Amino acid sequence: MLQQEIEISELRLITDLIKQKYDYDFGNYAMSSFKRRVARVLELYKMEGVPTLLRRLDIDAKFFKEFLAEITVNVTEMFRDPTFWVELKTHIIPHIRQNNENFSIWHAGCSSGEEVYSMAIVLEEMGILDNVKIVATDIDHVILDKAREARYHIKNMEVNKKNYTTFGGLYNLENYYKEESGKAVMDQNLVRNVEFREQNLVTGSAFSKFDLILCRNVMIYFNQTLQNQVLRLFHESLHKYAYLAIGSKESLIWCELANKFIVVNNEEKIYKKIRD
Ligand SMILES: C[S@@+](CC[C@H](N)C(=O)[O-])C[C@H]1O[C@@H](n2cnc3c(N)ncnc32)[C@H](O)[C@@H]1O
Repeated sequence: MLQQEIEISELRLITDLIKQKYDYDFGNYAMSSFKRRVARVLELYKMEGVPTLLRRLDIDAKFFKEFLAEITVNVTEMFRDPTFWVELKTHIIPHIRQNNENFSIWHAGCSSGEEVYSMAIVLEEMGILDNVKIVATDIDHVILDKAREARYHIKNMEVNKKNYTTFGGLYNLENYYKEESGKAVMDQNLVRNVEFREQNLVTGSAFSKFDLILCRNVMIYFNQTLQNQVLRLFHESLHKYAYLAIGSKESLIWCELANKFIVVNNEEKIYKKIRD
């Protein structure tokens, strides 16, 4: 079914049903991206229209999980935007360490875990991995299982290796994984201090305080109302003078709580909470 043929009212019926039945709130997702994804699900499952999708969502909780995986965009890479990681290593982390030897990081929307492994490698190479507690969350439990397993397609490692080299990693990325039947199996020792947990940024509430939150390439799919709501959650979850990093194409400037943060690095989209 072409996306032009899907009515806004039909998208509303889908978001209402999901909210009522599964407590996932997609009502404020950017409608254009939601519509594109719904069109893709209809095509993938050969459904002739939204009524069929609604019936299936209503009776089949297992299908809902598959639907969720299709709706949320999981694209990620290790050391994505290498200059961001350089900034973390050379400025942000050293600043955090000036005040706290032990600190905590939240990866919100961690997808299949590449970002978490990148962070662990940076910390390991700085010799401080054991000083850091990391929580990595995502709405999608299927993708979280992939993050826990961390067995990545060898062909995806090409871009990861390139990013790591551009970042200026101390060794070869191969030092951190072994190859097994076409997969790169990451060294589990890197995630010894990582807790992976399912969490919906929209319906979830603050569960801890952090020194650094990364929520990169997640809010891009949210409309302003939802971005405001999620920024409120991050504000509550950050210590005063702690850092928040978002994706390179995202911005906080239109958010209601923008005045509680200052821009630390505009290129890399790193902010600091300055007011409670
Ligand atoms: C494009 S990936 C970004 C991964 C990584 N942060 C990066 O920048 O490479 C977006 C992730 O956000 C997750 N996500 C989308 N909506 C979410 C929500 N409401 N709560 C938590 N995670 C969500 C998706 O499941 C997906 O894994």
